[in-house]
Amino acid sequence: MTGLHNKSILLGVSGGIAAYKSAWLARLLIKAGAQVRVVMTQGASAFIQPLTFQAITGHPVHQQLLDTDAEAGMGHIELARWADAILIAPCSANLIARLAQGQANDLLTTLCLATQAPIYLAPAMNQQMWAHPATQANHQTLLSYGYQLLTPESGEQACGDIGPGRLPEPETLCAWLTQALDATQKSRLAQGLRFLITAGPTQEAIDPVRYLSNHSSGKMGYALAAAAASLGAEVDLVSGPVHLPAPAGVTRHSVTCAEEMLSTCQALQPHTQIFIACAAVADYRAAEVACHKMKKGQNEEPLTLTLVRNPDILATLAQDNPRLYCAGFAAETQQVETHAEQKLRRKGLQAIIANDVSDPQIGFGSEENQVTLLLKKGELTQTLTYPKMPKTQLSLVLIQQLLQHYQETFLHEQTPDQG
Ligand code: PMT
Repeated sequence: MTGLHNKSILLGVSGGIAAYKSAWLARLLIKAGAQVRVVMTQGASAFIQPLTFQAITGHPVHQQLLDTDAEAGMGHIELARWADAILIAPCSANLIARLAQGQANDLLTTLCLATQAPIYLAPAMNQQMWAHPATQANHQTLLSYGYQLLTPESGEQACGDIGPGRLPEPETLCAWLTQALDATQKSRLAQGLRFLITAGPTQEAIDPVRYLSNHSSGKMGYALAAAAASLGAEVDLVSGPVHLPAPAGVTRHSVTCAEEMLSTCQALQPHTQIFIACAAVADYRAAEVACHKMKKGQNEEPLTLTLVRNPDILATLAQDNPRLYCAGFAAETQQVETHAEQKLRRKGLQAIIANDVSDPQIGFGSEENQVTLLLKKGELTQTLTYPKMPKTQLSLVLIQQLLQHYQETFLHEQTPDQG
């Protein structure tokens, strides 16, 4: 379940006329399934009574840093640990300045320093105060510390001024927090996991200037690596020769031929939980690589090349390490799903992505792709078909689906072995 359901939200309220909206905000958070505790600054209680929040949340309001009664109950450090998120609404110019300086001179600023939870600020103040360079500099400092700030709304203010500085309506604040928490949760979906992804073609030398290869651009594999990294995974990308920059947060290992790709993957796999083979590995290489450029024959006689099979990287890793979750691709031009399912079983995989490469719009080099994902569920196979979409978008969907399958099925199957 996502959103605010069962989330522990610490609602901070600072001094400002907009503090009256926080009472309704507390109510909305609770209605959305959150557990709410309220911390008020000294300034806040000049605008709204703690009793109001106590009545809404059913819990005493925290106000003092050095309060022996409160510390005997839930002390400030426990409160900082309890929170899944801290939302401060309204957040005054004064509080923004104190947070930017890292002060710990009251309970709310101390909690912000002591917590590991994400902190969301909804600034509200007079438009001139918001526009002041000092406030804007503090705003930037807080962004650089990882605080998330909601831009105040523009309009008529309680003081009569017109401009940006208004606290958005509680419904807007609640929706913003829900969305922000979902995004944070998503960005941690793959945290603690290491992915190994192959991408691009391999080049198999014939002589010093010629090679056998294929049309893989690396786009699909690179998009998968970027998607896994965006969900918090550590990613090793073993790439054949392509013209793409390494995605942010991904470690690229450049290789040329299949044998090099295999040995690189073998060296990395002991640290890996999830292996995705997206590379278009050449199935054959020249039996012998000529030391010098091969010369044309005298006549029109054909040239005969003897080819030998390359190692199957995916099948080798799947066989060598039963604890490795292995997903492959099946590039097919006919009976796509049937051949893909055969590869899933033959290579001992947990999943395979069937890619009809007979359509140039969804295969080698294209920006978009349309695939069918086959998931092994014991003796059965679950089939999930996706519509055509950009490879970047598809990658995010695929990685999330593979993660779910890894967690639900693969980990479960492995449990008895782990004692
Ligand atoms: O790179 P793009 O231009 O974006 O194109 C993407 C793609 C079409 C290359 C990609 O979507 C794709 O289908 N990749 C798999 C290509 C392939 O070689 O398919 P295959 O059916 O021949 O191989 C089956 C699986 O075994 C693949 O996961 C492949 O990586 C792996 N394999 C194959 C041969 C081999 N010697 N070693 C392998 O690991």
